[in-house]
Amino acid sequence: MRQPIVGGNWKMNTNRASGTELASAVASSSASARAQVVVFPPFPYLLTIADTLKGSRVMLGAQDVSDRADGAFTGEVSCAMLKDCGVSWALTGHSERRHVIGETDALVNAKTKAALAAGLSVILCIGEKLDQREAGKTDLVNETQLRAGLAGVEPASLSNVVIAYEPVWAIGTGKTASPADAQAAHAHIRKVLRSMYGVDHAEAMRIQYGGSVTASNARELFSQPDIDGGLIGGASLKPADFAQIVAAASP
Ligand code: PGA
Repeated sequence: MRQPIVGGNWKMNTNRASGTELASAVASSSASARAQVVVFPPFPYLLTIADTLKGSRVMLGAQDVSDRADGAFTGEVSCAMLKDCGVSWALTGHSERRHVIGETDALVNAKTKAALAAGLSVILCIGEKLDQREAGKTDLVNETQLRAGLAGVEPASLSNVVIAYEPVWAIGTGKTASPADAQAAHAHIRKVLRSMYGVDHAEAMRIQYGGSVTASNARELFSQPDIDGGLIGGASLKPADFAQIVAAASP
C-alpha cells in the first residue's frame, strides 16, 4: 500500500507574513492526515517557514536546486544550503522550469542526481504539452522524460523519488485531465518504471497527478489506482482548499 503524498507548490507567490500564515494553517489542518504533506515556499522564506513547521508533520521542500555543489554560480542555490535550511524535498523538472526557463532533460537529470546524492527526496515532474497530447504522444513524452530524468539513478535511491505527472496544458489553466486520462498516463508511467527497475520498485513508487487539482476534483483523481496524491499549485495557496485536497488523499 503506497502512502499518498500531497505537495503544495507555492511558485513565486506569498510574502513572509502570508507564507508563514499559510504554512501554519497547513500544519494544523494536516495534523492527522494519512497522506504525507510537503510545501514548497519561495527560497527567501524557507528558514522562516522551517521554524513555523517545526514539530508538525508537514515537510519542507525547495522549488528548484542547483546541480552544482558550490562555487562561482551566481544566483544558484545548492542542495547542501537547502538542507541547512531544513529542506528535505526538492522539485525537479517542473514544466515551468522546462518550458519557461528552458531546462533540458540533461539538466533535470543532473539536478535529480545532485539532490538525491545530498540526501534530499525528489519529486521529478514530467508531462506532455497540448500539441503533444493532440498528436497522441502523451505516453512517448512521459517515457522520454522519465527515462532521461532518472538516468543513472540507482534502485537504492528510488524510495526517495516521487514522480509527478503534470500535463502542461492542465497547469494553472483550470483544465484538468479526466480521471480516466490521468489514470491511463499513470499506468503507462508505472509500466515504464517496471521495465526500468522491476515490478517491486515500480509498485512501491508513488506517482502524483498535478494540473488544476481543486478541492472538488481531488477525490475522484486520487481514487484512481495508480494516482498516489497530487502536486498542487493554485489551490495550495488557499488553506481551506488545500486542507480538503489533503483530506481527499487521506481516505
Ligand atoms: P496548478 O499547478 O495546480 O496551479 O495547475 C500545479 C503545478 O504546477 O504543480
